[in-house]
Amino acid sequence: MTNSDNSSNTGELPAGRPLQSEFDTGLDYPRLGSVSFRRGTLTDNQEKLFDEHWPRLGTLLSDERIDVEQWFGRSGHPTILEIGSGTGTSTAAMAPLEADTNVIAVELYKPGLAKLLGAVVRGDIDNIRMVRGDGVEVLNRMFPEHSLDGVRIFFPDPWPKARHHKRRIIQSGTLNLIASRLKPGGVLHVATDHADYAEWIDELVDVEPALEFMGWPWEQCPQLTDRQVITKFEGKGLKKDHVIREYLWRRRPLA
Ligand SMILES: C[S@@+](CC[C@H](N)C(=O)[O-])C[C@H]1O[C@@H](n2cnc3c(N)ncnc32)[C@H](O)[C@@H]1O
Repeated sequence: MTNSDNSSNTGELPAGRPLQSEFDTGLDYPRLGSVSFRRGTLTDNQEKLFDEHWPRLGTLLSDERIDVEQWFGRSGHPTILEIGSGTGTSTAAMAPLEADTNVIAVELYKPGLAKLLGAVVRGDIDNIRMVRGDGVEVLNRMFPEHSLDGVRIFFPDPWPKARHHKRRIIQSGTLNLIASRLKPGGVLHVATDHADYAEWIDELVDVEPALEFMGWPWEQCPQLTDRQVITKFEGKGLKKDHVIREYLWRRRPLA
């Protein structure tokens, strides 16, 4: 992929209902139903910044594999994918402390990506890139097997109503897909402040045979696990006295 000269890449998703990959594993995947791509408006400043910097630092979900080394302009560095980066508060706070790591933030919500883009440009942070699209599709279509050192999912949408639980991103199929994209020894880090979602995750911690549940804390974790800041969503939860639950898994060696 030639992101650096992708000047026609405006960050706009195609209109209408998103395409969903079909998986034939017999496992459960988030089904978005009538949920369509999230829209939102940017301020004039954000528009300007987006037009100028997105073609270099961001790309849209596509069927093209991401050439990480080319995109980051360096080789031999670990790569972590963050799914649902929101406004990127923790993404931007963590990245300078893991300058050695390539961080790819995936988000559907354009104003969130614009905020992160602003933080990246203003803070001269050179180890963050962004993909606009559904995290499951990005993983499935844009990354080969065993290519990632880490996957992060911080405060995923809890979909509290029982009839919407099938939309939750943490499911047996997603865990299987994540395991397939992680390198052996790679880390999955999930955090939630939603008690019911935590119970849901508790039931799934051992469902994927290729992921070894390491619990929390995991002192020897090879990656940064401290988010550094309290994000908007985390803050909302804390105000309601929600308990934050963190989960870490390690990708087992290839069989
Ligand atoms: C509750 S917010 C948390 C944002 C951020 N991680 C934080 O802690 O502030 C969940 C975010 O995930 C995004 N999201 C939900 N489903 C997604 C998906 N399938 N792929 C990518 N992003 C997704 C939403 O747009 C939203 O910004």
